[in-house]
Amino acid sequence: MRRYGLIGKVLGHSFSARYFAQKFEREGLSSVCHYGLYELPEIGDVVRFVQETEGLVGFNVTIPYKQQIIPYLDSLSAEAANIGAVNCVKIMPDGTLKGYNTDVDGVRFTLDRLVGSADVGGALVLGSGGASQAVKYVLEERGIPYMIVSREQSKGDITYDQLMREVMADNRLIINASPVGMYPHVDDAPAIPYNLLSSSHYLFDLVYNPERTKFMELGSEIGAHAVSGLDMLYTQAESAWKIWNE
Ligand SMILES: NC(=O)c1ccc[n+]([C@@H]2O[C@H](COP(=O)([O-])OP(=O)(O)OC[C@H]3O[C@@H](n4cnc5c(N)ncnc54)[C@H](OP(=O)(O)O)[C@@H]3O)[C@@H](O)[C@H]2O)c1
Repeated sequence: MRRYGLIGKVLGHSFSARYFAQKFEREGLSSVCHYGLYELPEIGDVVRFVQETEGLVGFNVTIPYKQQIIPYLDSLSAEAANIGAVNCVKIMPDGTLKGYNTDVDGVRFTLDRLVGSADVGGALVLGSGGASQAVKYVLEERGIPYMIVSREQSKGDITYDQLMREVMADNRLIINASPVGMYPHVDDAPAIPYNLLSSSHYLFDLVYNPERTKFMELGSEIGAHAVSGLDMLYTQAESAWKIWNE
């Protein structure tokens, strides 16, 4: 059996486990491939997990271990090293562990679909946590100037109450990289001035549950283009699959 899986502290219902079970079923791989959920109380437990999981090919990493896993890896892809976070690990042919960041592939794919070659001026990235690092990486790669919007002045470039008319008009790509609006808090939306949006604004919500968030809804009402994090989620999973099998 070729084994894959997800490590994290508390996993509950995982998108990845469902996604890969369905994929293996569809592609006739269920008898040879398995994707498991592995809750590790401490990141140090990853050593035993790797040693004792027979047939392990690779695994995904989620909260709170995306940064903590790095000292346990032998090498990193250039992107993972640059971002400082790993969400995919591959057991290399010589038994060493290599870390990758496939969230960036999801961000790239979604921005291609949402924005294409439109001129957005600049971007506002809401939230200064792990996910916003992957977003920043792709914006820099594309030469799109951005500001990090944070609840605290010291953690970002601007705070929510500083989002005035000119800032909103100049930065027409707005990316929610905060958990605001995520199930079960589906009636919450990031505290931006929605009345200053227009049909030339593009909203990308990294939140994927619910599929249509309040942030998207408020933007769409004014005619802004809006997408959820679902495509990003599928893309990062498929990128991991490619890495494990190449
Ligand atoms: N679609 C995908 O494939 C994908 C991949 C990765 C992550 N995500 C989603 O992206 C979101 C962020 O992930 P993350 O790991 O970066 O989460 P996180 O570290 O928990 O939070 C990110 C940032 O959001 C801001 N924030 C947190 N709670 C907030 C609140 N109540 N109100 C306003 N701002 C708040 C904080 O920034 P400040 O303190 O600076 O305000 C925090 O650093 C999650 O919903 C996650 O599910 C989706």
